[in-house]
Amino acid sequence: MKILVLGSGAGGGFPQWNCNCANCAGQRAGRIRASERTQSSIAVSADGESWVLLNASPDIGSQIRRHPQLHPRHGLRDTPIKAVVLIDAQIDHVTGLLGLREGPCIDLWATRCVFEDLTSGLPLLGVLRHYCGTRWHMIGVDGSCTRSDFEIEAAPGLRFTALAIPGKAPPYSPHRREQVTGDNIALRIDCIADGSSLFYAPGLARVGEQELAWMNAADCVLVDGTFWQEDEMQAAGLGAKSASDMGHLPQQGAPGRPGMVDALRDATPARKVLIHINNSNPILDEDGTSRRALAAMGIEVAHDGMEILL
Ligand code: MLT
Ligand code: MN
Ligand code: ZN
Repeated sequence: MKILVLGSGAGGGFPQWNCNCANCAGQRAGRIRASERTQSSIAVSADGESWVLLNASPDIGSQIRRHPQLHPRHGLRDTPIKAVVLIDAQIDHVTGLLGLREGPCIDLWATRCVFEDLTSGLPLLGVLRHYCGTRWHMIGVDGSCTRSDFEIEAAPGLRFTALAIPGKAPPYSPHRREQVTGDNIALRIDCIADGSSLFYAPGLARVGEQELAWMNAADCVLVDGTFWQEDEMQAAGLGAKSASDMGHLPQQGAPGRPGMVDALRDATPARKVLIHINNSNPILDEDGTSRRALAAMGIEVAHDGMEILL
């Protein structure tokens, strides 16, 4: 399986346009060694010919420009991007759909909850009806059904499994205060030809037994790396919300609440990679102590342009 990390940042990217925090200002001034990051999206392919986007970031134009694998190949207008799969309805994961409007009708895989958000609170799909249009394929994670398997005909060789996970619906969702099944999913992707597997969960509020089992069953995990600590935004004076308020599990645990590094430390995948990194996170500093601590535990930090071959 081929994986392209198109955007490794959280909402706002890095450095964030309006932010003067130590990381953002330090990166602009060259005081810290840290690479720019666009917003959260990856692409996967079995054959390197047809690609599936997992989330569509508002930075999609520059992300496609950067990756020759995603450039048009045949004829005057063309794209190797055959489908888009959404893991939630958050702005950083969905507004890139608008950036695909010049192309063919978008084959879109999403749960009913996400479809509803995109036709009401953030009505992108209605807008796109006036351009390329979208063809919705329902991911059946809904109600009492917490797992759904599917394949995408135009991107053969990959098998997808969607899993309900703890997270947070976006602010414009009717479920913001109380998450329901289908607001947030993780994806397991299997490559039929070589048997490789990926677990992708850029938003994950808790790693329970189930999530850990899914992580351990994969060759590579790309998981929530948004915050280093629970009160990171508050401590830096950047905002009032904690990591859990935003549906993200911080890397550092607290008594009674293991963090992402506690889950990853003993996990078995060959590649353990944090993704969806917020601009406030000290792991962005490649020479920093938290980055060193991760490296000592065999945990990588995704960067834009990272290519993973499984
Ligand atoms: C989140 O995951 O909470 C987002 O990055 C927030 C956003 O996109 O504004
Ligand atoms: Mn996000
Ligand atoms: Zn910042």
